[in-house]
Amino acid sequence: MIDAAPTDALRAAALSVMSQAYAPYSRFRVGAALATTGGRTFVGCNVENASYGESICAERSAVLAAVAHGERAFTALVIATEGSTPAAPCGACRQVLAEFAPSLEITSCTTLGAESHWSLDQLLPAPFTSNSLPRS
Ligand code: THU
Repeated sequence: MIDAAPTDALRAAALSVMSQAYAPYSRFRVGAALATTGGRTFVGCNVENASYGESICAERSAVLAAVAHGERAFTALVIATEGSTPAAPCGACRQVLAEFAPSLEITSCTTLGAESHWSLDQLLPAPFTSNSLPRS
C-alpha cells in the first residue's frame, strides 16, 4: 500500500466512465482513469464480447486510448467499481501498465467509498520487460 491519494478529478473520471462499461455478461462494470506526466487524463471502461475471451478490461482500454493520443508516460491510475470491495488490476493489465509505468501509483475505489492503494511494482514485482529480451 502507498499513501499517495489521487486527485478528486481522477477519481471522479474513473467513477464517471464506469457507467459507459459494456458488461452484459459479467454485470461487473469497471472504469479507469489514467493521468499522464503532463497532466492529461485518459479514461477507459471494460468492453465485453459474446466471445468472452475477446473482452477488454478498463485499465487496458485507458492505456490504449492514451497511447493512441501520443501519451506514454503516466503518473497515476484510478480504477472504479461498484460495491464494497476495491478491485486490484488483473495480471494482464499489470503487464501492460508495466510497459510504460513500472512504478505507477494505483488506487481502486468503489461506489460505496472504499479505497485501496498500491504501486505497480508491488503488484507486479518481477515484470517481463524489454530488458528481458535478447539484444540484436
Ligand atoms: N475487468 C476489468 O475491467 N479490469 C480488471 O482488472 C479485472 C476485470 C473486467 C473484465 C470483465 O469485463 C469483468 O471485469 C469481469 O471480469
